[in-house]
Amino acid sequence: MAKDINFEKHRNDFPMLKTQMHGKRLAFLDSAASAQKPQAVIDAMDAVYESGYANIHRGLYQVSQKLTADFEAVRAKVATFIGAPSEKNIIFTRNATEGINLVAQSWGRANLKAGDEIILTAMEHHANIVPWQMLRDRTGITIKIVPFDKDGVLDLAAFERMLTHKTRLVSFVHISNALGTINPARKIIEIAKDFYPDMKVLVDGSQGIVHSPVNMTALDADFYVFTGHKLYGPTGIGVLYGKEAVLQSMPPWQGGGDMIERVSFEETTYRPAPYRFEAGTPPIAEVIGLGAAIDYVSAIGMNNVAAHESELLSYGTKKLREIEGLTIHGNAPEKAGILSFTMKGAHPSDIGTILDQCGVAIRAGHHCCMPLMERLGLDATARASLGLYSNREDIDQLVEGLHKVREMFR
Ligand code: ALA
Repeated sequence: MAKDINFEKHRNDFPMLKTQMHGKRLAFLDSAASAQKPQAVIDAMDAVYESGYANIHRGLYQVSQKLTADFEAVRAKVATFIGAPSEKNIIFTRNATEGINLVAQSWGRANLKAGDEIILTAMEHHANIVPWQMLRDRTGITIKIVPFDKDGVLDLAAFERMLTHKTRLVSFVHISNALGTINPARKIIEIAKDFYPDMKVLVDGSQGIVHSPVNMTALDADFYVFTGHKLYGPTGIGVLYGKEAVLQSMPPWQGGGDMIERVSFEETTYRPAPYRFEAGTPPIAEVIGLGAAIDYVSAIGMNNVAAHESELLSYGTKKLREIEGLTIHGNAPEKAGILSFTMKGAHPSDIGTILDQCGVAIRAGHHCCMPLMERLGLDATARASLGLYSNREDIDQLVEGLHKVREMFR
């Protein structure tokens, strides 16, 4: 049962939203690129640097020990937030991209050989394409691509046909950053594992974690990656969730301090996961900031965030459809708060530049999804993306700006 949340009140928690752009009210509609931060996140990080800072996992003194405990408590908090069995499933990374590279370089190099096949989809972000191509170039694996239809819905029948006795991994995006499509993650995983129980599945949850509740136990993915800065937390901190048995079987990726048990010039032994995958001093204040962001969104409830954004998405979709010459790209029945569009006669970068003058922040470009754009027959779209603080006023300001674009490019 959804709680009655006053999202307008929550807007006040985000200092950036009180600023102006070109002297106009800021309509921040670029949360898919990076979300604004609530005061609670800023305060938590300030507190670390102002009165609680030291390196962690090393000091015998009080400040270090307290911060170590707070840091490790965030690992447990992340596990609870995503319904993972324990904190042992949680590896801190730099971002989602690093999580995928870690899996490709550690699990991939240890387990894949020439002739093996992996399956991606045509709507992947470059972060879920390039690491696999780098692995392909080293190992000789084959990459297959699941297509999507005109509405941006994955062709699951084509996916089933692609599975062969050589398929070892399926890696797909939970929610498309360029189309907004919410992929049927549980179903895709079920199909993969029914075909071959030991098939590994990685889910890129960069947008999934932001727009919907997720539960690793129910989902049954082997790996799930996300980044803190899209979840109202700081940059420089991401999460790789992995099933414990899979993580424990994987060799280290980067070597250095904190990930070892014992080092000599003859031989080094490694700590168990997750520590084996966290070489060097970690992003300490960033982890604390991520913990504060998780507390913040948990107090609101991810189901309430999803309901709020869904209502706004319907409003925005209706308003944008009324604009002459505007086409929305991505019309899947299951869709999150992302509106990608083009306008007849105006290039997306023109749209972005004119909207900027109107105080409206959107992204224009290929959204790090060049193969997806190629399939749409476009080089770019304009994209408005929602966050929990977005409101109808933001959409109305966007629509007003788009009418100006229409006037200029008529
Ligand atoms: N991947 C981010 C986006 O969609 C940067 O904009």
